[in-house]
Amino acid sequence: MKYKFHILFLNGPNLNMLGIRETEKYGCKSLKNILDDLTKYANNLNIKLSHLQSNAEFKLIDRIHESYGTVDYIIINPAAFAHTSIALRDALLSVSIPFIEIHISNVYSRESFRQNSYLANISEGLMCGFGPESYLWALKIAIQKLSKIN
Ligand code: DQA
Repeated sequence: MKYKFHILFLNGPNLNMLGIRETEKYGCKSLKNILDDLTKYANNLNIKLSHLQSNAEFKLIDRIHESYGTVDYIIINPAAFAHTSIALRDALLSVSIPFIEIHISNVYSRESFRQNSYLANISEGLMCGFGPESYLWALKIAIQKLSKIN
């Protein structure tokens, strides 16, 4: 079956602990629950979703490189790598795939070290503070954007 678009979700370090980790900030949904909902939504629209969660920066970078020519859009929660990783920024620049940066919590209302993102100013947009729902909102926006240009 030919898919309309291919969208890649990337999740950075510690997001495998969603549902357990600091639930007052990140909510009670596990990453698997979130992805199941996203997959259902995408399947109904004939959109291919891929996903990688990794605690290792190089694995996220490798996945971004592999996406060149095969992925139409990236939605990334870089987690703490947003605040530290020039390498992740360079990887995203190297493939020129449009992307949305998301955070579950409002990083601008938290510690000052969370208020810098190395990805934000090269992203198509940044969404933060809307809880686990941010993933679905970002997916809807990505689909809308892809539908306009294809
Ligand atoms: C996070 C915010 C980051 O500052 C933090 O390091 C995370 C999660 C979020 O989704 O709110 O791990 O990306």
